[in-house]
Amino acid sequence: MGAILFCASFGDLFTHAVLLLTLGVYSSYGGGCTFPDSWTGSWFLSGYPSLIAINSTHIQSKGECSERESTDKFLLYDRSDDSYRCMVIHEKHKYVLQYKESPVWPKDSLSTICEQISGDAPLYSMFRKEPRPVPQECPFHPAPFTFTYNRGTGDCTNPPSRAEACTDNSRLLLRYMACPDVPGTESNVEELVCLATWKEGSTRYLVGQISQVQRRNSIASDEDTYRCFIYKGQHSDKSMTYNIAQSGDATCNGVSSPTDGSRIMKLTNSDDEHNRCHFPSWILEHHKWFSLDHTHQYHFTTKNATLKIMNADGSYEEKRLVCHSILEQKEKKHIKLVAHVTRGCESGHACLKFYRRSSGVLELQQGSSLWDSPEDACTARGDPEPYLTLISTNLVPMRCPILGRYNVVNSPTDRRRRRQQATIGSEVATECVAGAYESVSFGCGNSQDTIEFSSHCATTVYTCYGSWSSSGSGYLVAAPLARASTHPHTACLVYRDPRTNETRSGRMWLSVAGGSCDRALTAADTVYNLTVNGTCEQSSKYNSGTSRVTSTALILVTLLAVR
Ligand SMILES: *[C@@H]1O[C@H](CO)[C@@H](O)[C@H](O)[C@H]1NC(C)=O
Ligand SMILES: *[C@@H]1O[C@H](CO)[C@@H](O)[C@H](O)[C@H]1NC(C)=O
Ligand SMILES: *[C@@H]1O[C@H](CO)[C@@H](O)[C@H](O)[C@H]1NC(C)=O
Ligand SMILES: *[C@@H]1O[C@H](CO)[C@@H](O)[C@H](O)[C@H]1NC(C)=O
Ligand SMILES: *[C@@H]1O[C@H](CO)[C@@H](O)[C@H](O)[C@H]1NC(C)=O
Repeated sequence: MGAILFCASFGDLFTHAVLLLTLGVYSSYGGGCTFPDSWTGSWFLSGYPSLIAINSTHIQSKGECSERESTDKFLLYDRSDDSYRCMVIHEKHKYVLQYKESPVWPKDSLSTICEQISGDAPLYSMFRKEPRPVPQECPFHPAPFTFTYNRGTGDCTNPPSRAEACTDNSRLLLRYMACPDVPGTESNVEELVCLATWKEGSTRYLVGQISQVQRRNSIASDEDTYRCFIYKGQHSDKSMTYNIAQSGDATCNGVSSPTDGSRIMKLTNSDDEHNRCHFPSWILEHHKWFSLDHTHQYHFTTKNATLKIMNADGSYEEKRLVCHSILEQKEKKHIKLVAHVTRGCESGHACLKFYRRSSGVLELQQGSSLWDSPEDACTARGDPEPYLTLISTNLVPMRCPILGRYNVVNSPTDRRRRRQQATIGSEVATECVAGAYESVSFGCGNSQDTIEFSSHCATTVYTCYGSWSSSGSGYLVAAPLARASTHPHTACLVYRDPRTNETRSGRMWLSVAGGSCDRALTAADTVYNLTVNGTCEQSSKYNSGTSRVTSTALILVTLLAVR
């Protein structure tokens, strides 16, 4: 206000003096102070029928900010009955406010009214609802745990209950078991979402929301789901133990220590379950791999025992796989292992098979179902899993597995062009149609590591990065040269292996697939049909004689959409 006066000209002074006077009178009714901006929003308070709105000047149902002392003492004025109350409010976490309050009091000084708060006045906890809180990482590591619990009827230790991690580390799945010898215990699955943690002295608090996984459709109220916890973690050389006490309602009352609450739990991490094996060095040569279409990242982390499958940019984790046991291994070629898989809040064991195709190319077959027992995961049944092609960011060009020049017999774009010609006339023949290639040369450059698709007006060059054959088909990972520097739209070329009977009988086919080296592609998916037109050494013009000899070798090329 001094600033206002300072800036005002003398002519304005009178007006401002009146304004200040008005403000002074006003503040004696309240409105004289503000609450921190971070409190603005809607808050849940147990026992209160609706959410409590807080803005910079008002707390709904309590009054307006009239006077503030230090950071936490507020005198609130309630206009509806011309009364005051003192509130001592602590921000424990940006999502948790705790307060004590005086009885409603007639007008008096802040200190007098605040003195009315008795030592045993109840402590109220408010949990933020709006703006919606972002869940926080749960403080219990490393999951999974086994646990015992007690709801006041005795320790339920046998069978042990289990707490499992979710891929999202702000969630924990609690699988309660029923103990036959402890009344009131039942088997039940709860999901805990961690919202806020804070520390007071040496006491650690957690506020979270609990939902019943098996009764997910029933609508649970905030009163049923908000819970407050006190916890304490203890390291021993081999394991980690947490004592946890849980409140009986949606407040932080009734929990006073990690071993005193409406429900107490003791979590012990079952470390033996995990870190039993490591992924082999020929996979870890690159810690990050990508799916062929670059939509997914495969990130090997945590002591080389964990594989995280994420969004390409790593922003969202879909699955976490921890090496459990290695069943078969061929050095630098192939490995079959059982992994403990976490997918959302689901977990179990799955079979993984990795194949090394070149230094920058892997294939992965991943069991789609999750098994409780690791022994069940790799027992073959049903259809074989599809092969996923993984590439590293560091692809090294290699010699292409086919060498020679070929002519395109026909392609779908060819047919489209011919239709256009029929309707519009022959000028269209000079139009450049994307993908309407006339010839292909494999490995005819100096380093034999490129494939050139050419038409009369355009050329697309692919670089070869890895190849292998399986069940009579050849597979080749290649990327268009033009895009390789920025974002390689790598593709898989699938072709009938020239060494099989089909070639000897003069037939073979080949395809280019965007997503993976699909084993299900057949000649029916063909897009380009090619005929041999000489070796790389022979120039096209020179070899017209040779080509007559080899023209019986028909190559069917399939070009699937390359994103
Ligand atoms: C705060 O809320 C009160 C009542 O809910 C309202 O009268 C007042 O205008 C609001 N103040 C601001 C700054 O939004
Ligand atoms: C993980 O694997 C890489 C490559 O094999 C190796 O260099 C590194 O030492 C390993 N790290 C651990 C913690 O085992
Ligand atoms: C390939 O040819 C050999 C004999 O020439 C034959 O025994 C075999 O069955 C053939 N394989 C296929 C897949 O046709
Ligand atoms: C390629 O040839 C095969 C048989 O030789 C035929 O079935 C297929 O339709 C042809 N594909 C195209 C795109 O012309
Ligand atoms: C081989 O390719 C050249 C140039 O594309 C072409 O002139 C020639 O006719 C082709 N030979 C055959 C048999 O297709």
